[in-house]
Amino acid sequence: MKILIHPDAARAAGAVADRIADLLAARPGAVLGLATGGTMEPVYAALIDRAGQGRFPAARFTSFNLDEYVGLGPDHPQSYHVYMRRHLFGPLGLPPGQAHLPRGDAPDLEAEAARYEAAIAAAGGIDLQLLGIGANGHIGFNEPSSSLVSRTRVKTLARKTVEDNRRFFGPGEPVPRHALTMGIGTVMDAAEVVLLATGAAKAQAVAAMVEGPLSASCPASILQMHAKATLVCDRAAAAALRMTEYYETVHPEGGAPQL
Ligand code: PGA
Repeated sequence: MKILIHPDAARAAGAVADRIADLLAARPGAVLGLATGGTMEPVYAALIDRAGQGRFPAARFTSFNLDEYVGLGPDHPQSYHVYMRRHLFGPLGLPPGQAHLPRGDAPDLEAEAARYEAAIAAAGGIDLQLLGIGANGHIGFNEPSSSLVSRTRVKTLARKTVEDNRRFFGPGEPVPRHALTMGIGTVMDAAEVVLLATGAAKAQAVAAMVEGPLSASCPASILQMHAKATLVCDRAAAAALRMTEYYETVHPEGGAPQL
C-alpha cells in the first residue's frame, strides 16, 4: 500500500483531486468509483476547481457511487443522489446518464443490486475507486464482519455509523438504518483504489487498516491485498500508525518518492 501523509486535510484532499484530474486528463472517458461523506466535500470542490482550470475535460467520465440509503428516493435531500448532484455532477455539468448510483428506493433491492453490478461490468469496470473510511473501519457501507468477497447488496448499518451520519439529518429526522452498497469484492475489482482519511476520529481505523491484521473486523484492511491501493491522509488521521517514520521517508509530506 502506498501511504501518503500530508501536513493537513486540505492538502490531502487536494492531492486526491490531483490524482483524479491526472487520470481524467490522460483518459477523459475513465470510469470512476465515487464516495460521499464529509471527507469528500473538499475533494469535489478541488476537482471542480481543477476542471475550471482546464486540467481535464469535465464531463466525459462515467461514475458509479459506492452506496445509497435504503428508502430514500433520488430527490430526497439527504440521499447520496442529491449529495453528488450538489457537490460534483451539477457543477461539472456531467450528463445524468453517465452518473450512476444504486436506487435505494427500488421495489426489489436484490434485483437492483444485480443490475448495478451488471452496469459496472458493462462499463468495463472501475478504473479508480475513491473511498472514505468509517471510524469502525467500514468502506462503502460494508460494516465490520462483512464478507471480504461480498458484492453489491443491502447492509444493516452499525449503530456507530447511524450516529456518525445523524449530523447530516435534521433534528428528530429518522436516520436510515440500511443501505444498498457495493461489496468489498466489488471495490477490490477496481484497477486502482484511493482511500482518503482526515481527522483524529479516523486514526484508529487507519492504523487497523494499514498495520493491523487482514480481517473482516476492519473491512478496509482488505486493501492490504490490492495491488494498487493508496492511503492519502493528514497527520491527525495518521497519528496512531507505528511506522510513520518509514512512510514519511518514502513520501516526504505525501510527495513523490525520494529515490
Ligand atoms: P465521512 O464518512 O467522510 O463523513 O467521515 C466516511 C465513511 O463513513 O466512509
